[in-house]
Amino acid sequence: MKKRIFSGIQPSGMLTIGNYLGAIKNWTKLVDEYECIFSVVDLHAITVRQDPKELNERCISLLAQYIACGLDPEKCIMFMQSHVPAHTQLSWVLNCYTYMGELSRMTQFKDKSERHADNINAGLFTYPVLMASDILLYNADLVPVGHDQMQHLELTRDVAERFNGIYGDTFIVPDAYIGKTGARVMDLSDPTKKMSKSVPNGMVALLEEPASIMKKFKRAVTDSMGYVKFEEGRDGINNLLSIYCATTSKTIEEAEKEFEGKGYGDFKKAIAEAVIAELEPIQAKHKELMDNKDYLESIYKNGAQKANEIAQGTLKTVYEKVGFIV
Ligand code: TRP
Repeated sequence: MKKRIFSGIQPSGMLTIGNYLGAIKNWTKLVDEYECIFSVVDLHAITVRQDPKELNERCISLLAQYIACGLDPEKCIMFMQSHVPAHTQLSWVLNCYTYMGELSRMTQFKDKSERHADNINAGLFTYPVLMASDILLYNADLVPVGHDQMQHLELTRDVAERFNGIYGDTFIVPDAYIGKTGARVMDLSDPTKKMSKSVPNGMVALLEEPASIMKKFKRAVTDSMGYVKFEEGRDGINNLLSIYCATTSKTIEEAEKEFEGKGYGDFKKAIAEAVIAELEPIQAKHKELMDNKDYLESIYKNGAQKANEIAQGTLKTVYEKVGFIV
C-alpha cells in the first residue's frame, strides 16, 4: 500500500513563488510514489476577514494554479475543504481534546492576533484543530509542510496520540514530509522573513507580469560584499541563490561558478529571467483553465466525492469511539 500524503494551501491571497518553489513544485513529484490529497483550505481562510467575491474567485484560481503547476488531477485528489463537512465535524470533536494552553502557545496565533488585532476570533484560535482534522481525517502518513507549520503539525501529533491513548488506535500519527529540495523562499525586501502573500513588495506572485517580476528582483535586498557566494549571514544573496537553484535545478556550486566575477545586476537579471521563463507556461495554463470553468468544476466535484468517502469512514469510527450512536 502506498503511503498517504495530505496538504493544503489557503485561498487567502495570491500564491507566491515561495508557495510554488517551496511546496507545489515538490508535490508534483510525489503523486506517483504516494497517494496524494491536496485541498484548497477555504475554511481556514475565513479566520481572517475575506471579501466574498474575491474569496470565491481565489478558490477556483488556486485549484487552477495547482493543476497549472503540474499536479495531475488524474493522479491525486484535489478538493475544496468546505465541500467535505467531516472537516468541521471532526474539528468539533478534536476541539474537546485540545487544551487552551496548547493553542495559546501557537506562534502563528500570536502573530496573527497582532496583525489582526481588531478581529481575534475564536476560529483563529482553534485554527490548528481544524488543520489537525484535515490531516487526521485522511489518516495521512506524511504532511509536506513548511517550517512555519511545524508547530501545528506537532500539535496534530499530540492530539492524535491523546485520542489514541484514550480510545485505542484510531488515528495515524503523521510525520512531516521533508522534501529533498524544497527551497525556503524569503521576502525579497526583507530576506530575514519568509516570503508572504501579505507583503506585496517583497513577494513575487505566481501569476505576476514579467515586467513586474523583473522590477522586484532588481530591487531585491542584497549586501555590500559584491560577489555571489552562499555564505552564513548573507540572507539576501543566499535567498536569491536558492530561488535561482530551485528554479533552474542547478546546484549552489554551479550557480556560484556561473556568476563568478559578475555583479549583482547581472545576477538579479538572470534570476528574474529564469523565474519568468519557469512561470510562463504555468500562467498560460492557468489562463486556459480559468476559461474552462466546467472542467475545473468537474475536478473539484470529483475530488470532493472521493475525499468524502474516506473522511466519512474516519468520522464514523471517531463517533463510535466517543460513544455516539451511529
Ligand atoms: N495551515 C496551513 C498553512 O497556512 C494550511 C493548511 C491547512 C494545511 N490545513 C492543512 C497544511 C493540512 C497541511 C496540512 O500553510
